[in-house]
Amino acid sequence: MKKAVVITGASSGIGAATAIHFGKNGYFVYLMGRNKDRLAEVAVQCRSGASLMSCDLTDVPALNKRIGEILSTNIHRVEVLVNNAGIFDVHSTEQGTDELWQKEFDVNLMSAVRLTRAFFPYFKQHGGGSIVNVSSSLGLKPTAATSAYSAMKAAMINYTQSNALEGGPFNIRVNAVAPGIVDTPIHPFNALGESEKKEAVSKMNPMQPLGRIGTVEEIAKAIYFLGSQESSWTTGATLTIDGGITLT
Ligand SMILES: NC(=O)c1ccc[n+]([C@@H]2O[C@H](COP(=O)([O-])OP(=O)(O)OC[C@H]3O[C@@H](n4cnc5c(N)ncnc54)[C@H](OP(=O)(O)O)[C@@H]3O)[C@@H](O)[C@H]2O)c1
Repeated sequence: MKKAVVITGASSGIGAATAIHFGKNGYFVYLMGRNKDRLAEVAVQCRSGASLMSCDLTDVPALNKRIGEILSTNIHRVEVLVNNAGIFDVHSTEQGTDELWQKEFDVNLMSAVRLTRAFFPYFKQHGGGSIVNVSSSLGLKPTAATSAYSAMKAAMINYTQSNALEGGPFNIRVNAVAPGIVDTPIHPFNALGESEKKEAVSKMNPMQPLGRIGTVEEIAKAIYFLGSQESSWTTGATLTIDGGITLT
């Protein structure tokens, strides 16, 4: 049976690059996200085949339907789940409404909880599996005006460790990545014109010990390492890929 990976947030940024990287390494990719056109663009770049699983991860019946479709396939054996989808909201403490916190919770944490809960019995039944959760350097070291996002990303690290303990006896590995600032559409600077973006990025670059912000491919390779058998004795780890910014 061909090996497969499920990736949330695969229509853009880190998730799209991760899908393409797994594809290069022989994995069939289940691409999850809302934007069907962008998912289709990513699918054509996945060399080993891909299936579009479009849905809003906060729409629980729609998500459960997609999970059911993936789990019932007899063509592929899902070996890896990448919980990558996320939203990033910058707001002051006073601006942090219940609604905003709830949205951060639903997308950034509960989508991973729901998928992990569904895949644990599948992985147990199939002799193991690997889960990679996409946290953030802000989950280790927050900045001002990112409280909801940073709290969810910190929770993701703790959730990773708890699941690693529970999954170990069943050969289920659970790890996290904590990226620093990576050039993707999640950042408001990507909505700026070319010269304004260049100026914004040039201010961020010196904040990184390695002197520049990161690329999606640099994160994709780390997710691949943790998801695949290349890291067969690693579980419960959080790998920072951040140009060193967490140390500053
Ligand atoms: N870029 C960074 O600097 C950075 C740093 C640390 C951590 N991260 C984390 O990396 C992950 C990927 O972010 P990115 O930077 O690649 O951002 P991005 O390009 O904006 O991608 C975000 C992805 O999440 C999906 N998504 C958002 N809300 C969704 C929903 N309700 N239902 C289904 N899918 C949803 C989006 O898909 P649709 O639009 O198609 O729904 C998109 O594919 C996130 O967890 C983010 O927190 C990013």
